Amino acid sequence: MSFNPKHILGIKNLTADEINFILDTADSFKEINTRQIKKVPTLRGKTIVNLFFEASTRTRTSFEIAGKRLSADTVNISASSSSVVKGETLEDTAQNIEAMHPDIIVMRHSASGACDYLAERLNCSIVNAGDGTHEHPSQALLDAFTIRQHKGDIKGLTVTIAGDVAHSRVVRSNIHCLNKLGANVRITGPKTMLPPGLEKLGCEVFSNLNDAITGADCIMMLRIQHERQGKTLIPSLREYSRFFGLNDENLKLAKKDAIVLHPGPINRGVELSSSVADGKQNVILDQVENGVAVRMALLYLVAGGEKLQDE
Ligand code: CP
Repeated sequence: MSFNPKHILGIKNLTADEINFILDTADSFKEINTRQIKKVPTLRGKTIVNLFFEASTRTRTSFEIAGKRLSADTVNISASSSSVVKGETLEDTAQNIEAMHPDIIVMRHSASGACDYLAERLNCSIVNAGDGTHEHPSQALLDAFTIRQHKGDIKGLTVTIAGDVAHSRVVRSNIHCLNKLGANVRITGPKTMLPPGLEKLGCEVFSNLNDAITGADCIMMLRIQHERQGKTLIPSLREYSRFFGLNDENLKLAKKDAIVLHPGPINRGVELSSSVADGKQNVILDQVENGVAVRMALLYLVAGGEKLQDE
């Protein structure tokens, strides 16, 4: 098959075949990242603007590295150093950037739907690097890539996602992605952090972390998204950690060879004990490493994929 989407806005509208095609494409790019000369000419002459209205370490850096390793010209704009601080709207900012003829804008924004909004108004491709509490598609794809790397076929695996589900775009993209690939998705977190209707998305919802991780193949822990919470949703971090933190003791409830994932940034001693964060079962740095290959695949496919060779 071939798959050359104009935009990557979320996982919800992708098919399982399209997701697997992206992961297979990422697989073919992965070895470039360990070569002595980490550069191929695939996107030579293409311009990519990374437009980040929210903080980021992993996503922005790896989109930039991905673009550079494919020989694209990459430009980074963060809201704090742009004319957004002078009152310019998102649409005006984006139209001004588009006037400089970028091929792709990779955007992170605090508003859910901001990437869809731009995709309807601009001619260039938009790649969603996280929009509000809506979607974070490249994160879910790198998570699936990492699970596939460690577990083989995702179909039939039990994947538990635990934490601040209500405020997480990572969880929404992961629920879509893992369900499409045939995993059994379990969700847990404090009642105040579980939105209604999760069962309708095809998840099994648990009120208790220990029940949710019993027999799991993969455990994905989430950070509390303080920046998106309007009010305090838990009595204290110590209590949160006691009931929803993963530690050496409760990790034994999962399968012996279970892997622990986290999108980062981690809060040590809150959702993960330091021993789990540094332990043998965690694959967090594999996720980060795989993020570059997955983002190379996304940029390549959005830019035209195999058609690039005809240009
Ligand atoms: N996982 C993730 O999106 O991390 P950053 O916020 O550092 O990009």
